[in-house]
Amino acid sequence: MSARIAARIARSAASRSVARSVVQKRALSALARPSVIRTAVPTLARGVKTINFGGVEEVVHERSDWPLEKLHDYFKNDTLAMIGYGSQGYGQGLNLRDNGMPVILGVRKDGVSWKAAIEDGWVPGETLFPVEEAINRGTIIMNLLSDAAQSETWPTIKPLITKGKTLYFAHGFSPVFNDLTKVETPKDVDVILVAPKGSGRTVRSLFKEGRGINSSYAVWQDITGKAEEKAIALAVAVGSGYVYQTTFEREVYSDLYGERGCLMGGIHGMFLAQYEVLRERGHTPSEAFNETVEEATQSLYPLVGTYGMDYMYDACSTTAKRGALDWYPRFKDALKPVFNDLYNAVRDGSETKRSLEFNSQKDYREKFEEELKVVREMEIWRVGKEVRKLRPENN
Ligand SMILES: NC(=O)c1ccc[n+]([C@@H]2O[C@H](COP(=O)([O-])OP(=O)(O)OC[C@H]3O[C@@H](n4cnc5c(N)ncnc54)[C@H](OP(=O)(O)O)[C@@H]3O)[C@@H](O)[C@H]2O)c1
Repeated sequence: MSARIAARIARSAASRSVARSVVQKRALSALARPSVIRTAVPTLARGVKTINFGGVEEVVHERSDWPLEKLHDYFKNDTLAMIGYGSQGYGQGLNLRDNGMPVILGVRKDGVSWKAAIEDGWVPGETLFPVEEAINRGTIIMNLLSDAAQSETWPTIKPLITKGKTLYFAHGFSPVFNDLTKVETPKDVDVILVAPKGSGRTVRSLFKEGRGINSSYAVWQDITGKAEEKAIALAVAVGSGYVYQTTFEREVYSDLYGERGCLMGGIHGMFLAQYEVLRERGHTPSEAFNETVEEATQSLYPLVGTYGMDYMYDACSTTAKRGALDWYPRFKDALKPVFNDLYNAVRDGSETKRSLEFNSQKDYREKFEEELKVVREMEIWRVGKEVRKLRPENN
């Protein structure tokens, strides 16, 4: 290790330890918490809250309004038929079951999900059925098939969703883009949405920790006058903590946009661009990775997540702060046209069309795997595997 690299690592460790001690001190001081926490004062004591988010008032519901006894009573005459056992089916289904809700599962027999469900304790003929049978037994049909499969199976499923049942989605995709998906919902049933803001694995892990994931809910069609209440109750039953009001349209546009942007595609592209330049300019793989991904995910992004962007700036050196404050507008200006293109592609249905076409192929799993293999084998992510082994917690 060269003296410069050693000094750099020492400096970096020192700045991280300064950041940590700043964090610890600030965490102890309520006054030092980001102002958003201080201003988000609920206007009602408990349950439904109107919260001022940066000047805009929004309604948020919380799970304390729906204790388990109330949920059990509310759904005592229902059977929740969850169709599909992918990421969301796993998280929502197991949470419902652990909450003592009357839930059964419907998946195609002997497929990957059928086997996974049996491994997780769902019992064929008791709590696990082929899709059509589960729908026939259910009063609330929770459609958690993949979005492409929702479209593909709709001609078979639609006639089974008869008057008096409720149709539930975890994404606005199928009804909002019905010109492409052909999912025209029946006219005589409540149609609602609960969209957890995270993967089904997180829906499950937060539930097991006694916390709840944040979700949004929406009503597409209210026949009974109870659709909204039912959506909120179901959101809590599947493991949500706070539940934000939205519409099917807003949910699907923002979700498709976000996952292609900052949540996944955009951040991956930015990591790659920064890493490639560092490597092309002669930096070692570990240095390029540490300065691009490791410090971001292990030190700085958690600060943004816990206390906010201003706090993260504040926890860093004046050198870092000066440079980052100068450069962020350039990145924003360079990226904004790409984000506008992306939003247009979401709104005009191009992204939906692409997703439907790709994910309807019989071999979609194998094709995804081929592309993920390319990602896995990229130098940056191979380096990440080695760097993770050297983390303090792994020593
Ligand atoms: N994943 C997330 O982070 C997330 C977050 C919020 C909302 N959502 C929404 O939740 C819903 C479910 O998403 P997901 O990620 O959990 O599911 P997924 O993994 O995309 O879907 C898998 C399920 O669909 C079934 N399936 C696929 N093709 C089928 C077909 N032709 N016929 C019958 N079943 C078929 C699979 O069964 P087999 O095993 O038998 O193939 C499996 O049970 C979607 O609307 C999604 O947008 C997802």
